This record gives sequence, structure tokens and C-alpha cells, in this order.
Amino acid sequence: MTNHPAYPTILAIESSCDDTAAAVVRDGRTVLSNVVASQLATHAPYGGVIPELAARAHVGAASEVLQAALAQANLSLAEVDAVAATLGPGLMGSLLIGATAAKTLALLTNKPFVGVHHLQGHVASCYLGSALQPPFLCLLVSGGHTQLLGVEGYTQSRLLGSTLDDAVGEAYDKVARLLGLPYPGGPLLDALAGEGDPKAFALPQARTQGAYDFSFSGLKTACLRHVEAEEARHGALNETFQRDLAASFQATVVATLVKKVVACAKAEGYGTVALAGGVSANGALRAAFEALPAAEGLAVQLPQRGFCTDNAAMIAVAAYYTPLAVGPPALAMDVFSRG
Ligand code: KG4
Ligand code: ZN
Repeated sequence: MTNHPAYPTILAIESSCDDTAAAVVRDGRTVLSNVVASQLATHAPYGGVIPELAARAHVGAASEVLQAALAQANLSLAEVDAVAATLGPGLMGSLLIGATAAKTLALLTNKPFVGVHHLQGHVASCYLGSALQPPFLCLLVSGGHTQLLGVEGYTQSRLLGSTLDDAVGEAYDKVARLLGLPYPGGPLLDALAGEGDPKAFALPQARTQGAYDFSFSGLKTACLRHVEAEEARHGALNETFQRDLAASFQATVVATLVKKVVACAKAEGYGTVALAGGVSANGALRAAFEALPAAEGLAVQLPQRGFCTDNAAMIAVAAYYTPLAVGPPALAMDVFSRG
């Protein structure tokens, strides 16, 4: 197992988008603290994240969040063994704040700095509080990415499939908006769907050339057509329509995801499947994964609820399993927006 027994206690910062987060994790599995300052109220009036406002809000929150993470872990900065931060992908201004704060703390205290890839962080969220070890198949579903990853080792994975257009979280947010829900609509659509009839609307499941690729733009357009037709008939969307379209959309997304995950796991010989990223908080998707051991004979690992959407605990875990480049080369690693 690749790990860093010499650096058991890691302080991490995550600031890639609109959450300022800091956490302390021990031995890559045990969360000593996990603090998240949400910027939801800042961005909600605009219906999406405004990068400049996000960067400014990170500056305002970083110090308090870091101090809270250390205080909740009952540790001083001197007692942590390494400092980590997300380097990308994400918003450049936002990433710079967290990465610069972490590098500065590392430099001042003469501790190693570890730069982490945000998506590796999401995969690592599955290790928290669990005994999961590679190899396994991971479905990563967030606001920016949808990927099927064959996780071969703590730092090695194979990209087996990805979305050709919208990410799953993005599709949730866009359809939620069509239904008149505020940003970010994913969790609200999830709640609404629980009250509706998933068979009310027959929605299309996209066929893709790559067996394990995904496409959600056709589904989103089909939802738009139903909303337009309903508005033309009644002038506004009533609650039954909103619930039923939400439930039908969610059932279609979950069925598509689960079908591809099962097919891929069987074809590629993975006995364990994991779920990660913000959409892993989705109730219907979690329930569908929880049914897989009985239905398909696959072992399943889900991230605990608090570690699905962006958080720093997952960044600390990924850092624990990242080979260290100590000193100037690590400090010289730059943030990046894509990749
Ligand atoms: O991983 P994350 O926090 O940020 C990115 O790295 O993108 O994921 C955020 C995404 C958003 O699109 C949000 O609407 C979606 O995850 N999300 C959900 C739920 N909770 C968060 N989508 C569906 N159901 C949920 N319960
Ligand atoms: Zn994320």
C-alpha cells in the first residue's frame, strides 16, 4: 500500500469552486475535523457561481475556516505533519487562494506541501471511514465531471468512460432551473422527485458510441419540451407536473448510470463499485447502488453523506496517498483550471 506513515496527520484546504473548506485527517481514514463555509448565499441571486465573487469570499473565509479545522481537531499547526490543497481543476482565482494559503503554512512551519487533483479527492472520499482498497470501479458524478474510472491503485486509474456533453450534476441543475427551482437545484430536484411518479413521462436514455460514455443533453432537451408544452397548455407549471417530471428525469438518470456501471464492472472484472462526487448525495442513486450486492453480486462503497459534495477531508485523504515531493518542487506546483 502506498502511503505516508511518516505524515499521518494532514491538514487540507479545498477551494476549487464556491466552498471554502479545511479538514484534518489521520492515517488517510479518520476525520478529526471537517469544516465547510458555503458561499451559496453570495451566488444564489445570480443563479450560478460568479468566479470573482468566489475568490473574494475565499479570502474572507480562509483564515477562520483553517482555525476552526485545527480547533475541532484539537491540534495546533505545529502538530500536523503535512499541509495539502487542491491544485485543480476548478476556478483559477478560487484555487489560488487555497493553494497559496496551504503553501504559506507549509513554508512557515517547514512541513511538506502536497498538491491534490480535485477528482482524485472525490475518489478518495470513499476511503473515509471504510476499509476500501483498490482495485475497484468508481462512478464519479459531480457538477463538472461524469467519469467511469477503473481505480487500479491509490494514484493510478484508467478512464473507461465519460460524458460527451453535460455532467450529471450540471444536468440536474439545468433541469431544476427549468422546473423553477433556485440554484443549485440538484438537491432540491432530488427532494421533489421523491414525491413524484417516475413513470409519468417516458424520457430518452441516450445511446453513445463508446459503451461506457454518457450523454445528458438529449434528456435535458426532452425535459425542456415537456415544460414548454405544459406552459403552453396551462400558462404555468403546477406542483404535480413538477414532481412527476423531476421523478421521471431522476429515474432515467439513475437507470442510465447504473446500467453502464454494472455492464462495465462485469466486462472489466471489477467486483467492487464505488460512487463519488456531489451527485453521490442523491437519494435515488444511493438506493440503486445499495441494491447492487443483492441484484448483481457486486460489493458497493458509498461515501458518507458529509463527504459527497466538495470538502477538504477528501483532499487530505488523497494527499495521504500521494507520493510526496518535498521542498521547492512541490511548492512550485501551480494551480490549473482544467484537466
Ligand atoms: O462535487 P461537487 O460538490 O462540486 C463539483 O466538483 O462539481 O458537486 C456539485 C454538484 C451540483 O451540480 C449539485 O447540484 C449536485 O452536485 N448535487 C446533487 C445532489 N447534491 C448535490 N445532485 C443531485 N442530487 C443531490 N442530492
Ligand atoms: Zn467536486
